[in-house]
Amino acid sequence: MTSTRLAEAQLGGRAIRRVVFTEEEVQRRVWELGAEISEAYTIEDRLLVLGLLKGSFVFLADLVRRIALPLHVDFLVASSYGKGKVSSGDVRLLYDPESSLEGRAVLLVEDIVDSGTTLRKLLPRLEARGSSSLVVCTLLHKPTDGDGHRPRFVGFDAPNEFLVGYGLDHAEDFRHLPYIASL
Ligand code: IMP
Ligand code: MG
Repeated sequence: MTSTRLAEAQLGGRAIRRVVFTEEEVQRRVWELGAEISEAYTIEDRLLVLGLLKGSFVFLADLVRRIALPLHVDFLVASSYGKGKVSSGDVRLLYDPESSLEGRAVLLVEDIVDSGTTLRKLLPRLEARGSSSLVVCTLLHKPTDGDGHRPRFVGFDAPNEFLVGYGLDHAEDFRHLPYIASL
């Protein structure tokens, strides 16, 4: 399949407003984040990379391959958005990690921090589980997260637009785009 036909097939004839971060920009930044994370931890930390599904699955898959340390991977599923573009503020935990967090350095991986509501509700629950540290790595950070504190690892500061691609969806569409676009 040619690259033009692949692009058309991925969008299914629907328009996106503009590409915000190209595939090359995303890959370069993920590479840098992997290096930063590799520097920040040691083998003794017993790193556990905890992905927040579904949005983080593409980012996490690329990121862990750029971390030069032994690590374990697990996931949690939280839901707050339904089908709209605005957070409902109600964060439900639909799947809880199997792994024990006890004594491990936990790196929580998010696709995007918008209002910060998801993290404000999730972090206290995870903090109660005896990890030696709990740090957030988000691919994208929106300026709307006013009073929340900035995650330790941020891929890109994002414009205040609705973004899709590289794991991010709108009503489950567009997750498979290799770049990040605004809708
Ligand atoms: P928050 O709770 O408002 O910080 O939103 C966090 C979650 O909302 C993210 O994990 C995403 O799943 C979703 N979200 C926020 N902004 C966007 C966006 O621009 N595109 C797609 N999903 C988004
Ligand atoms: Mg999400």
